[in-house]
Amino acid sequence: MAVLTIPDKQQTIGEAEKIAAYLSQIGITYEQWESSMPLADSATPAEILAAYAPQLDALKQKGGYITADVIDITPQMANLEAMLDKFRDEHWHDEDEVRFILSGQGVFHIHPKTGPVIAVTVEAGDLLLVPTGTHHWFDLCADRQIRAIRLFQDPAGWTPIYTQSGIEQKYKSPRTVTTPTAVGSALYRFFTYALCRFG
Ligand SMILES: [Fe+2]
Repeated sequence: MAVLTIPDKQQTIGEAEKIAAYLSQIGITYEQWESSMPLADSATPAEILAAYAPQLDALKQKGGYITADVIDITPQMANLEAMLDKFRDEHWHDEDEVRFILSGQGVFHIHPKTGPVIAVTVEAGDLLLVPTGTHHWFDLCADRQIRAIRLFQDPAGWTPIYTQSGIEQKYKSPRTVTTPTAVGSALYRFFTYALCRFG
């Protein structure tokens, strides 16, 4: 289940209903989904999409998503860090970013128009819908793996558009900070260690 952290307030929310309520206030959808049938670890993308078809079909209809796929990121992937670098700086997209996590973990930082930056650590069973235009950034946890269903209105719209605000530097996790000069870095380390269970 997801964990929502508000680093500037040193606050953590761990209950699904409260996470959904908090995120709803800033326009983000959070849900927990269960597979409609047993899925083996070796399940193919087609089997995975079939197992979650009831939820996917409902969301497609609601959000105008036309395609869904399964992305599988592993530590062995070539150019993994270069790929992750694209998403580690604050950006937004021309379309919604919709992810349902099948396994592994990741951390979405969301920078709402009003209110503090939040970090949402997602894992198996979590659906996060980040609407178009929302400022955010993403990173994997230390285990460097995640498997997720993605939904698209138009895959071409998913190119990151960078804000170049630099705000993400304040919220870098300890493992990605090479020169920890940020004010309060010791305190922040305490909270970012809690973001990823294996981090
Ligand atoms: Fe993104």
